[in-house]
Amino acid sequence: MKILGISGSPRKGKNCEKMILTALEIAKERGFETDTVFISNMEIAPCKVCGACVENDSCVIEDDMEEVYEKMRSADGIIVASPVYMGNYPAQLKALFDRSVLLRRNNLALKNKVGAALSVGGSRNGGQEKTIQSIHDWMHIHGMIVVGDNSHFGGIAWNPVEEDSIGMQTVSETAKKLYEVLELIQNNKR
Ligand SMILES: Cc1cc2nc3c(=O)[nH]c(=O)nc-3n(C[C@H](O)[C@H](O)[C@H](O)COP(=O)(O)O)c2cc1C
Repeated sequence: MKILGISGSPRKGKNCEKMILTALEIAKERGFETDTVFISNMEIAPCKVCGACVENDSCVIEDDMEEVYEKMRSADGIIVASPVYMGNYPAQLKALFDRSVLLRRNNLALKNKVGAALSVGGSRNGGQEKTIQSIHDWMHIHGMIVVGDNSHFGGIAWNPVEEDSIGMQTVSETAKKLYEVLELIQNNKR
């Protein structure tokens, strides 16, 4: 089974990417394949609402979203990390979420994939819970199975994450919950 980690930060090597790498390290230890989408390395334009994906299974915009579609289709679990920008996720991640409508229109391609969310802010309580809830909304719209951290809603951290051991604990617990649910699904299929 494969886990896709998506970082919604436009900054390379910073908190969101560190949280995703921590989550994926645990996945590898448990025998999952892993893959990443780091928005900091990608060009993803906003949806133009041209309607082409209603008619056929493709997008007219030629950019890195094509690669994201393939990575999302082949994942069993998706974990998204986002910074808080003005109380919610940034425009760069919104562009990716909006463009993913193509997958929804294609027979709910993300349906029953398991999803979890992580968020980091510059303030201890700067909107991480709201950002996680917004990511969960996107997952629900795709018919995904959404999990928290067995306690609350997901991974909630404070920049810089390497100094926030309590926050990083919630990141690890969220990742473990995601993998636990996938293992349950896998065992039931046998
Ligand atoms: C435009 C902008 C708006 C921000 N708004 C918030 C906010 O509302 N709450 C908060 O806690 N941090 C806010 N921050 C701080 C970022 O969430 C924080 O620096 C975070 O660590 C960035 O993630 P990254 O290090 O992965 O890029 C904001 C940063 C920017 C650039």
